[in-house]
Amino acid sequence: MVAGLFFISLFSIAIASPAARSNFVVHEKREAIPSSFAKVGPAPSSAKIPLRIGLFSNNFPGLEETLYAVSTPGSALYGQHLSLEEAKAFMEPTAESLSAVTAWLDSHGLKATVTSPYGEWLSVDVTVEQANEMLDANYETFTHIESGKQLVRTLSYSLPANLLPHIEAMHPTTGFGKPLTVGRGPVVTASDRPTVNTTLLPDAVPASCATTVTPACLQAMYGIPTTLATQKTNSIAVAGFIEQFAQTKDLATFLTRFRTDLPSTTTFALRTFDGGSNPQGAADAGIEANLDIQYTVGVASGVPVTFVSGGETFSDGALEGFLDIINNLSGLATVPQVLTTSYGEDEPDQTAATFTKLCNAYAAYGTRGGSILFASGDGGVAGGQSQTCTNFIVAFPSGCPFLTSVGAVSGIPPSETAASFSSGGFSNVFAQPSYQTTAVKTYLTALGTTNSGKFNTTGRGFPDVAAQGVDFDIVNAGTLEGVSGTSCSSPTFASVIGLVNDRRIAAGKSPLGFLNPFLYANGAAFNDVTLGHNTGCNTNGFPAKTGWDPVTGLGTPKFASLLAAALAAA
Ligand SMILES: *[C@@H]1O[C@H](CO)[C@@H](O)[C@H](O)[C@H]1NC(C)=O
Ligand SMILES: *[C@@H]1O[C@H](CO)[C@@H](O)[C@H](O)[C@H]1NC(C)=O
Ligand SMILES: *[C@@H]1O[C@H](CO)[C@@H](O)[C@H](O)[C@H]1NC(C)=O
Repeated sequence: MVAGLFFISLFSIAIASPAARSNFVVHEKREAIPSSFAKVGPAPSSAKIPLRIGLFSNNFPGLEETLYAVSTPGSALYGQHLSLEEAKAFMEPTAESLSAVTAWLDSHGLKATVTSPYGEWLSVDVTVEQANEMLDANYETFTHIESGKQLVRTLSYSLPANLLPHIEAMHPTTGFGKPLTVGRGPVVTASDRPTVNTTLLPDAVPASCATTVTPACLQAMYGIPTTLATQKTNSIAVAGFIEQFAQTKDLATFLTRFRTDLPSTTTFALRTFDGGSNPQGAADAGIEANLDIQYTVGVASGVPVTFVSGGETFSDGALEGFLDIINNLSGLATVPQVLTTSYGEDEPDQTAATFTKLCNAYAAYGTRGGSILFASGDGGVAGGQSQTCTNFIVAFPSGCPFLTSVGAVSGIPPSETAASFSSGGFSNVFAQPSYQTTAVKTYLTALGTTNSGKFNTTGRGFPDVAAQGVDFDIVNAGTLEGVSGTSCSSPTFASVIGLVNDRRIAAGKSPLGFLNPFLYANGAAFNDVTLGHNTGCNTNGFPAKTGWDPVTGLGTPKFASLLAAALAAA
């Protein structure tokens, strides 16, 4: 119904003369090429750049205030989520911004298209020659050394001074996101497979869970119910990228083997964006997609699950895919109540401006009643994937305070152990949000001088929570395989929240929406993980400690306690 509102061409409504070059102000710049890229040379002047222009929202502070009001238990507005139109009233740009930017584009013979439901993102194809002229930039071609993929980027760009109050971000400019890849997986060490004394196992936990995780293990460890959800308006969306396709046949095999109590015909819906698809051919099985679908459909018993598959119209790394999926889902009258994503990169590769704009879209999603969950990353303190480093590398997008970042553990409660690959740390872009001030302060005090100078003590700390993430059984292309990573943890936690939402909706309440204020106010609803540490940059990373820590967050879910807290939240 609302889809017709988007992708409208903007018609120029004012004629302005091109800004004099002397009026340019540097907007963002990068001192050096990231070490994972090599410069090839100047970009061909006729090459096309799909330029995205992020306009300032007219009232983001108002949206943020509303987000906390509707997400903080005890607030008078708790659970009173916004409609698309209500969120748009905060997020849309001012008419003045729109006309200033339209006039500027018009002066270059260009017309943009609105590409977000709130109207704050415009897209326009420009040539390298035009981009260099319009942005006083120097677009060049760079190769991502490991994959050989090429990007066209500039090390700095400027805006005409009169546009500074109107344009918040531009992409592609100085951001060097690495192409998304799947397959390397985290480095799993011996400490990630702690010896479990099976005579000490809680009665409900099968002994096999000490070595291999299945839905039954998660149900037993976390008290996740096996009874079917009842609410059909509830849903979990699973993000799919880079031609990772979820297979219905593998899901049926998985359910037949691991959820004999569920009909093996239990399946998922498909939604696409950017021309995405979900082919079911013999060679189409994707480990990441199968894992994410099997541990949502197979754990969130009866909660409707939608696989949201993106096409390959973007190829420059995660940022574009993440923007496109959130903008697509935000265009729905009712957003999926949970969105889980098991992809990510490194924060330093992004530009602060585009990352802020993406993070703001997650805040808006929270006001709409949606929970954004991300796998924290598999490189420990070295970023999204292990790599060499001196100072700790922050994983992206976990530094955004408006999402819930999920780390990984192994072992069995009450002695779960942080996975060494579980990314965690402190953002260099976003400051600590107030919901975690006490938790982070307690941790930093206990940490003392360990790792001092290698991380930013004032940044937003992540992950927020954790779940099992080592040696999950999945079915892929008909074969039983074992997989590890925070990619296992995010769908698991998504299933927990999906089931809690089911019970809340059944009780006539709202879904939980943006989770963090609720989670940090209910630390007792988690198994506190105090064993283990992450690794990276030739260090032992951060140790898990009593309370929140930047490896396992608040800990792993105790379903009954979380549900009780959720039903009491009003
Ligand atoms: C396992 O725990 C039991 C009960 O505390 C103890 O007797 C036994 O020695 C433990 N086994 C190992 C291998 O630590
Ligand atoms: C989301 O993507 C679908 C499929 O490409 C498209 O039909 C729909 O218009 C998109 N919605 C928005 C808000 O972009
Ligand atoms: C540390 O984080 C803050 C946000 O809390 C940011 O403003 C600052 O630039 C960061 N410092 C560095 C060295 O990146």
